[in-house]
Amino acid sequence: MSAASYPFTSALVTGASSGIGEELTRQLAAAGVPTVVVARRGTRLESLAGALDGIEVLAADLLTDEGVDAVSARIADADRPVDLVVNNAGFGTSGEFHTLDPDRLADEVDLNVGVLTRLSHVALSSMIDRRRGWLLNVSSVASFQPAPKLAVYAATKAYVTSLSESLYTEAKPYGVTVSALCPGLTKTEFQSVSNTGHYQSSIPGFAWTTVEEVATAALEGVVRGRAVIVPGALYKGVVSVGSVTPRWLKRAMSNVVQRG
Ligand SMILES: NC(=O)c1ccc[n+]([C@@H]2O[C@H](COP(=O)([O-])OP(=O)(O)OC[C@H]3O[C@@H](n4cnc5c(N)ncnc54)[C@H](OP(=O)(O)O)[C@@H]3O)[C@@H](O)[C@H]2O)c1
Repeated sequence: MSAASYPFTSALVTGASSGIGEELTRQLAAAGVPTVVVARRGTRLESLAGALDGIEVLAADLLTDEGVDAVSARIADADRPVDLVVNNAGFGTSGEFHTLDPDRLADEVDLNVGVLTRLSHVALSSMIDRRRGWLLNVSSVASFQPAPKLAVYAATKAYVTSLSESLYTEAKPYGVTVSALCPGLTKTEFQSVSNTGHYQSSIPGFAWTTVEEVATAALEGVVRGRAVIVPGALYKGVVSVGSVTPRWLKRAMSNVVQRG
């Protein structure tokens, strides 16, 4: 996609220090879209700023009030409007629910659901005032069915897809687009953070999408005004078959995948 085909002229990406967020930032920079990058690891963000044009570093821990306030203030800054806001920062935790650290699970819900909701609210308030804007919330194919041993993660992403689809309909009359990005398995730091590294040997190569495919599909979907973006033919098929699959069968199938 050429730079001219992006209607947005500025962006903010949370979770830009690695994986999908980093690649979105690279593609936005290649298209000449100035981008504010947010994550805890400021050194990673500074390296991106050194390598790419138009990067503004905003190092912030979104699990702190100060971090959320700083990012909210940047999104709401009327003198430097942000056209495209990408709520991408998120993480998962694998294992049987009752064995996992409840504080970590609470942080996962706070980041994937609470912070995303707060930043969506700030973004849409500014965008609807301006009658211009694009909000991209990063969800997952895990949002479409339960995921035993990734139970909290799948539940947080079900929230993200549902919220984003509702907001899509609310924001549309104001000329503002809201999209949910629902990637399937993608090799990033997600696997080490969520302790799902074993998927890389147990799940065949054709089931993995690359960060490049995911980011390209995401930006194309946003430009086309899609409510739900599922990168890759395989996962598009999985999601459409899933929409007519009985819930008991979806539970059984996802249990087989998680056993890995
Ligand atoms: N990879 C997959 O298979 C997959 C599939 C579907 C959906 N997703 C979703 O895609 C999104 C991006 O994940 P990824 O796969 O690219 O994983 P990743 O490489 O682990 O990236 C996660 C990003 O979130 C940031 N982050 C985490 N906690 C944060 C905090 N408290 N404050 C600020 N930033 C924070 C991390 O930066 P710092 O550590 O520097 O803060 C990092 O930049 C997530 O929402 C994930 O759920 C991933």
